[in-house]
Amino acid sequence: MLQVWTAIGLLVFYLANSVTSLENGLARTPPMGWLAWERFRCNTDCKNDPENCISENLFRTMADIVVSEGYAAAGYEYVNVDDCWLEKERNQYGQLVADKTRFPRGMRSLSDYIHSKGLKFGIYEDYGNYTCAGYPGVLGYLQTDADTFASWDVDYVKLDGCYAHPSEMDQGYPEFGFHLNRTGRPMIYSCSWPVYQIYAGMQPNFTSIIQHCNVWRNFDDIQDSWASVESIIDYYGNNQDVIVPNAGPGHWNDPDMLIIGNFGLSYEQSKTQMAIWAILAAPLLMSVDLRTIRPEYKAILQNRKIIAVDQDPLGIQGRRIYKHKGIEIWSRPITPLYQNYFSYAIAFVNRRTDGTPSDVAVTLKELGLTSPTGYRVDDLYEDVDYGVLSPQTKIKVKVNPSGVVILRADVQSDYNRRVPYYSTTQKSPYNPLNQVFRVRNNGF
Ligand SMILES: *[C@@H]1O[C@H](CO)[C@@H](O)[C@H](O)[C@H]1NC(C)=O
Ligand SMILES: *[C@@H]1O[C@H](CO)[C@@H](O)[C@H](O)[C@H]1NC(C)=O
Ligand SMILES: *[C@@H]1O[C@H](CO)[C@@H](O)[C@H](O)[C@H]1NC(C)=O
Repeated sequence: MLQVWTAIGLLVFYLANSVTSLENGLARTPPMGWLAWERFRCNTDCKNDPENCISENLFRTMADIVVSEGYAAAGYEYVNVDDCWLEKERNQYGQLVADKTRFPRGMRSLSDYIHSKGLKFGIYEDYGNYTCAGYPGVLGYLQTDADTFASWDVDYVKLDGCYAHPSEMDQGYPEFGFHLNRTGRPMIYSCSWPVYQIYAGMQPNFTSIIQHCNVWRNFDDIQDSWASVESIIDYYGNNQDVIVPNAGPGHWNDPDMLIIGNFGLSYEQSKTQMAIWAILAAPLLMSVDLRTIRPEYKAILQNRKIIAVDQDPLGIQGRRIYKHKGIEIWSRPITPLYQNYFSYAIAFVNRRTDGTPSDVAVTLKELGLTSPTGYRVDDLYEDVDYGVLSPQTKIKVKVNPSGVVILRADVQSDYNRRVPYYSTTQKSPYNPLNQVFRVRNNGF
């Protein structure tokens, strides 16, 4: 059944949201920023490759560009260190120490620098004896390390899961979160807890994960290829009934970094990654060399219309609502709302490789858009305004091979005006339990 949402599903969803999620005030929308790992890996060779090694210079330079090239203005906020920043040994007090040659001024200094640019600072550790690259992990030092991060004014902690027992994570991840909370410094807590348990054949306890983490990984690390992006898209589509209800303000599924602007994705594929990540309400963490990115890829990363979909305040993760012969349709309920009707972002993805664009024709009604007041429909990449369409209108899009067309359909009020979500004139507030919408289950 390709039923999109049911009243019961939304009831469960909203109860989960209101009662049991982590409330540290952070990540009300999915976090946005820059993260080193996918592009820069564990390059520690500053002698032969000083421009690309994991060092304070790399992060300072990226922070500079995030601001000077307009990424910060578009919403990218965090500059996040990943693995390979550490000395191999803790100091005499058992504290973590940044590599002394690659981070000579230390992490507090880097944090201060990033904050001086108006940005936020993220760091990486691992709930295990070692990080994935073999540096000291937090096991045995949970409180010490949480305190150290707070003393460095860290804003975001990614806690990986190498060299740890997945069965101990149900206790361990909450325990580290407890110590983070005890520092009194709000830090986004990004967990790798579910993905390691899934690898170990366990069923993650998402009730608990939502309670303790702002962000978590469900699936493989992204690699620099379309095959990797496709595998992630498929995983999220194939497992959406389990995954989607867990997302909401303060707690998000993380399909991993944006690799747009690197070596492995074509222009079309890059547009597809950005569009689907927005549908998934994913954290938007760019992992790319911002010094050399080409302008057309920068434009994708800075597409404000798509960023607005990703950052929609309702925080409802979208779903794959159609998949047939290589054509997929993904849909995400967004603001504004009018009476009982959502607006939507709709992505048409062409997974075919037979070399010519595919036409997709569908009525809004078939997509579950049924408001009699109609929808203003916009293309988010191309400058096409479809005007106000009724649910019966058939729209036709041309989708390039491995490409995407992403539309936004804003529900209209009776007066064909946009209704702001937090409208003070709306007497009764939006009630999600009134929402029932379906999509045909037999194609179009
Ligand atoms: C971590 O190290 C301790 C002490 O050597 C050991 O007892 C424990 O089994 C290790 N844990 C893992 C997950 O390897
Ligand atoms: C710690 O947890 C409490 C209770 O959930 C919450 O109200 C508070 O904001 C948290 N503080 C930090 C710094 O995360
Ligand atoms: C999952 O976690 C919740 C909240 O911590 C807990 O109440 C529940 O018992 C756990 N479920 C299982 C199956 O362990």
